[in-house]
Amino acid sequence: MKFMEIKSKTPRIIDTHRKPLAVITGATSGIGYSFAVKFAKEGYDLLLIARDTQRLNQIEHDLSNNYNTKVYILTADLTKREALIKIESYLKNEAIDIDVLINNAGFGIHGAFQDTEINRELEMVDLQISTTLALTKMILPNMQKRKSGYILNVGSVYSFTPVPFQSVYGGCKSFLYSFSSSLAYETKKDGINVTLLCPGITKTEFRLRSKVGRYAQNINNKLSRNKQKGMEPDLVAEQGYKALMRGDRICIPGLTNRIFVQIATRLPTSFLNSALTLINNFRGVNPKNA
Ligand SMILES: NC(=O)c1ccc[n+]([C@@H]2O[C@H](COP(=O)([O-])OP(=O)(O)OC[C@H]3O[C@@H](n4cnc5c(N)ncnc54)[C@H](OP(=O)(O)O)[C@@H]3O)[C@@H](O)[C@H]2O)c1
Repeated sequence: MKFMEIKSKTPRIIDTHRKPLAVITGATSGIGYSFAVKFAKEGYDLLLIARDTQRLNQIEHDLSNNYNTKVYILTADLTKREALIKIESYLKNEAIDIDVLINNAGFGIHGAFQDTEINRELEMVDLQISTTLALTKMILPNMQKRKSGYILNVGSVYSFTPVPFQSVYGGCKSFLYSFSSSLAYETKKDGINVTLLCPGITKTEFRLRSKVGRYAQNINNKLSRNKQKGMEPDLVAEQGYKALMRGDRICIPGLTNRIFVQIATRLPTSFLNSALTLINNFRGVNPKNA
């Protein structure tokens, strides 16, 4: 029965000689890296994409040795159109069937909109929106042909709220909510699961890279990474993986995050904006004049 296929835990693979393959963007750290480990443990081969070749090589070495999995790596700055063309020709040349696509790569920008850098914001839109659309468009037809596929987009609890002083980030994550929900509906008949994973604060390099407030420390400083509050990325990836395999449209990992979304979506927008500004002032991630 088709419905059961969508819900089944193991992807249906037409060529029984090959292992399923998962493509993960932003796999060199945080949630993307945790997804890479999770899929390797579950018996997948991997195609990992990020900018840092040295880290990609190390991850390739570790995962292929520890989990007897094939790890392909692709160095690409996904804010650049040329990178997407490179990926498209790579996929065409290799003629590989992709079973899972994890659109994860992302970064944050904090500040009042008039003070932030427009070029960086356009790069954010390119990474979070354009790249997600382009990769999905590249990979979806083959999944539809095979009547099987799994696509997970990494949104945020901010997919459900406006976010003052992170307005472009919040806008990107809201876009992903709308896009993922619509795509899930459209492709259900083709046996494809589409999940929006909506983490809250997670202990990754995200805030260190955004260089905000008290997190503006050296990215290589493991101590500052470990001092962060929030969910462990492994747990976020674990819950995202299960939701994707079950066919859940939305996955909000962690009880606190689920409560946050339940409350936030019931509040009037003007009140929510003030409340979020206060919370983020308290967390030290807003500019001083917020
Ligand atoms: N951490 C949180 O609290 C949190 C909460 C909600 C949602 N999220 C979302 O979770 C996703 C993953 O973030 P994370 O928290 O795991 O952060 P992270 O540790 O900073 O990881 C970000 C990943 O994205 C890659 N990346 C960044 N810019 C890229 C580019 N231009 N081209 C290709 N790859 C790029 C980075 O690799 P390279 O540097 O090697 O390119 C890295 O692997 C993001 O979409 C983020 O918005 C995070």
